[in-house]
Amino acid sequence: MQTYLRGKDMITTQDWTKSEIDSVMEVAMELKRARAMGKPHAHLRDKVLAMLFFFSSTRTRSSFEAGIAQLGGHGAFIDSTTTQISHGDTAKEIGEIYGRYYDGIAIRQCDWGIGNKYINAVAEASRVPVLNMQCDVYHPFQILADLMTIIEHKGDPRGKTIAVSYAYASSYQKPLSVPQSLILLMTRYGMNVRLVRPPEFKLMPDIVQQAADNAKQAGGSFEIMEDMDEGFAGADVVYPKSWGCWMTTEDEAESVEIGKKYSDWICDERRMSLAKDDAIYMHCLPADRNIEVTDGVIDGPQSVVYDEAENRLHVQKAVMALTMS
Ligand code: CP
Repeated sequence: MQTYLRGKDMITTQDWTKSEIDSVMEVAMELKRARAMGKPHAHLRDKVLAMLFFFSSTRTRSSFEAGIAQLGGHGAFIDSTTTQISHGDTAKEIGEIYGRYYDGIAIRQCDWGIGNKYINAVAEASRVPVLNMQCDVYHPFQILADLMTIIEHKGDPRGKTIAVSYAYASSYQKPLSVPQSLILLMTRYGMNVRLVRPPEFKLMPDIVQQAADNAKQAGGSFEIMEDMDEGFAGADVVYPKSWGCWMTTEDEAESVEIGKKYSDWICDERRMSLAKDDAIYMHCLPADRNIEVTDGVIDGPQSVVYDEAENRLHVQKAVMALTMS
């Protein structure tokens, strides 16, 4: 158990040791139990978290806001469009100034090529921990919640097979942050990670290389596949979700056209039957229902999507309690 994480940023799980992430899991489980038992756990009394959003959210905003309140503190929701950022406040100014008002700064900035750089620039100027609520590259709190959910449903992740698969969606060119964070963290926990995607839907090469290195170090495996059925075959965990073909084009219209070629990349009952009988279906939500996944699968007995959403609350409380106290 790591006991000194005070002041540490959470921008990517890659910056945290395995032992530190194990500590997050332990504390998250403890806080989940405390909440279930109605036991007060005000570890962050009088602490205030800035929650700066450049992009919409259902789960992230609510779970951070509820989480900091349950810890005895307060979450200040800040819609970036209501600030002076568009009139010139720089990342350095946000880091310096918010760092003097607040005890932590959480940011969601998903713009391609901008979000991760922005969050790092704020962190550089901030005296308090910066928490990445999702950028163009990483979504660390989603993936910590996913790890907790896998442990709860499958026990030790080591040796289990997860298919991190592209699925078609028509809504918008989604960030790479979820699949990238998944392949980075699950390889560190010794899982056999299959990245399954059409050729135009590659992830960032340096992230893919880090995932391969993680797998080698942890004793699991990492492979890239281009057939969704093969990816699902015999898997313990399937995580099919849409992402944009950012490495192929940044043009939204072109991306929509490319995506249409893969409209049969859906998670349906036939595909679920290729995975193990007790396989779990995961999705960070929101999902394009009956496009990415059928109602039958997402609402079916193998789906753990609401456990994942709930665990956002517990892992975020754990990281806040460990870093902001
Ligand atoms: N999964 C997730 O981050 O959900 P929101 O976009 O609703 O926050």
